[in-house]
Order: sequence, then structure tokens, then C-alpha cells
Amino acid sequence: MTTTKAPAAGRKDGPNEFGYREFSLGEFRFSRDEYFAYVTWPTGRHVMSVDAFLRALQRDVAWEFFYGIVNFDGVLGTVNHYGTVDLFAGRYNDAYRKAELDHVENIDTPVIRELFAEMLDDWTNAGFDPFASPQETGSAFGNKHGQNTAAVTRHRVTAKRMVSLPGDEPLRDDANGHPVNRMFADVTQDEPEVYPEPGFEAEVGSFNLFSYLARSQVTWNPSVVSVCRDSLYCPTTEEYILPIIHGNDRAEWFVQLSDEIIWDVEDRDTGRKRAKVVMKAGDVAAMPSDIRHQGYSPKRSMLLVWENASLKIPQLISSGQFPTQPVEF
Ligand code: PHB
Ligand code: FE
Repeated sequence: MTTTKAPAAGRKDGPNEFGYREFSLGEFRFSRDEYFAYVTWPTGRHVMSVDAFLRALQRDVAWEFFYGIVNFDGVLGTVNHYGTVDLFAGRYNDAYRKAELDHVENIDTPVIRELFAEMLDDWTNAGFDPFASPQETGSAFGNKHGQNTAAVTRHRVTAKRMVSLPGDEPLRDDANGHPVNRMFADVTQDEPEVYPEPGFEAEVGSFNLFSYLARSQVTWNPSVVSVCRDSLYCPTTEEYILPIIHGNDRAEWFVQLSDEIIWDVEDRDTGRKRAKVVMKAGDVAAMPSDIRHQGYSPKRSMLLVWENASLKIPQLISSGQFPTQPVEF
């Protein structure tokens, strides 16, 4: 494995023959043409379909590198060290490791965040929305034509308060551009009735989570709807394929709220296959902290991702003080 100290971020001024800018981070080089994203480093080169690349890049940027590892595919990805980020090729791939072809650059978070955001904006054409399901967006392909800055800079909706209390995000409003998605036309839209004691009207609330989620315009993008200390409830709507293979640095709980998702679960460090998990509505699963996973949702479905956001957990797990599995059966 090779690494570089304090890598620099670079941009080529002019566009290439396809109209796209080229970027570098340390010894990594990024370019795209009509169909593909190309990544090179001193010991290797890699190619990905550009729609898949942009869907993964979009999540890495919007999620601030997420928890643990964001694999764009079995070769390329990032590790979040919460302040710095490793950009790697082949680091979590047994064959690349054994052949010593893997490469890692450790980069200050603001440097890689800025460069990734610029690349995402430059490489996303008019009409392509990396957060949308494939059936609800135009094409990522072709020579550069226009931009979709509004889509690629959209932020994950974070509830300001418990949803439904005064001051929350007004998400459940047809008039505000949040219509029910075509695949959730059967979701009932009634709201629970709540009768708080006088004086507690601003503190006691309740809402129809299914109605709320039915209006999400994006896929594979968990939003924080409630916070209790480090415990975050992050429901999301899923359709087609999770655009990243997520390598955990803590256990996560999944509650399948509707329909079905098929999960491929692999060893986090080598990519060895570990399990195929089919989750149907009502199923609950704990994903251990030493795996990576990618989900497939044949029909738009609702999933509750339950995260513990404590900054102490990765270290407690890597030092062996915490088990990798949250429950023993
Ligand atoms: C995950 O990696 O656990 C994950 C990410 C995004 C989702 C769902 C699950 O939408
Ligand atoms: Fe995950």
C-alpha cells in the first residue's frame, strides 16, 4: 500500500474534449467522458459507469462522508475519521491488498468535501438528479450539457424539533411541493388525533410517519426525524439500489416499514460474502459493525435506519471494548 502526506487538491482549468473538468486529490486523478468516470493512482486505474459514480458521490458529499466507509463499489471509496477522510482504491479489497496495488490518501475533510462538491456539480448534466430513482430522473450520460446545481446541493431535511410540533419542517403539505409519490398512492393520509392538557400544546405531538415518508422526492437518503441524545431515527424511502456499499463503524438497526429490501452483506475489510438478508414489512435487523452492505428495493419502500451517533463508538469497537454485534441469540 502507498500513501502520501498532506495531499493537494487540483483542478484543470479548461474542460476536456467531452466538456468536463478534471480533478486530482494527492495522486488520484478523476476524469469523465460520455459514459464513464475514470480514476487513476500510481499503481492502478479504475472505471465506473458515470451514473453510479455520481449517485455515490452525491451521497458522500451530502452526508459529510457518513459513518465509517462509503464504498463507491468494490474498489473505490472513503473512510470517515471525523475531521479527516481517507480516499482509497483497493484498500478493502482482498485481491488488491494481496497484490499491493491499493492506495490511500488521508485528506482534511474540508479539502475533499470542496473538491467532491465541485466535481459533482461539474459532472452532473441538466435533467439528471443523483438522488432520484432511475425512473424519476433524466440521463447522466453524454457530452456536458447544462447543470443541475439545485439538485446536487440540496440538503438532507433535518427536523428542527420533533416532527409535528410547532417549528418543525413543513414537509407534509401538497401546496409546498411535497406530493405523495406515485408508488405510495395507497398510503392513507389521515393524521392521529392528539388532545394535550392545556399548556402542553407545543410539547405533545403526533404525526403519520407513513404519510410523511410517502412525500419524499429522494431515494436512499435517511433524514433525521427524531433525536434522543445520541439516538437518531432516520427513516428513508428506497427504490432500486443503494448507490454505495456502506462499511459500518458501529452497529445499525433497520426496521422495514413497508414492502421489501434485499441486502447483500459482506465482510467489511475483504468483501467476502457473509449473508443475503431479505427484509419484509415489519422485519427488524441489526447490522453488525464489521460488515458492509448494499440494499436492493424492487418497489419504493420505507425503511427506518436507527443510528447511535456517539463519537466514542468506533474507538470502543476497534479496541474490543464493545462487541461487533449488538445482540447475542
Ligand atoms: C446504510 O448504509 O445503512 C443505509 C444508507 C442509506 C439508506 C439506507 C441505509 O438509505
Ligand atoms: Fe449502513
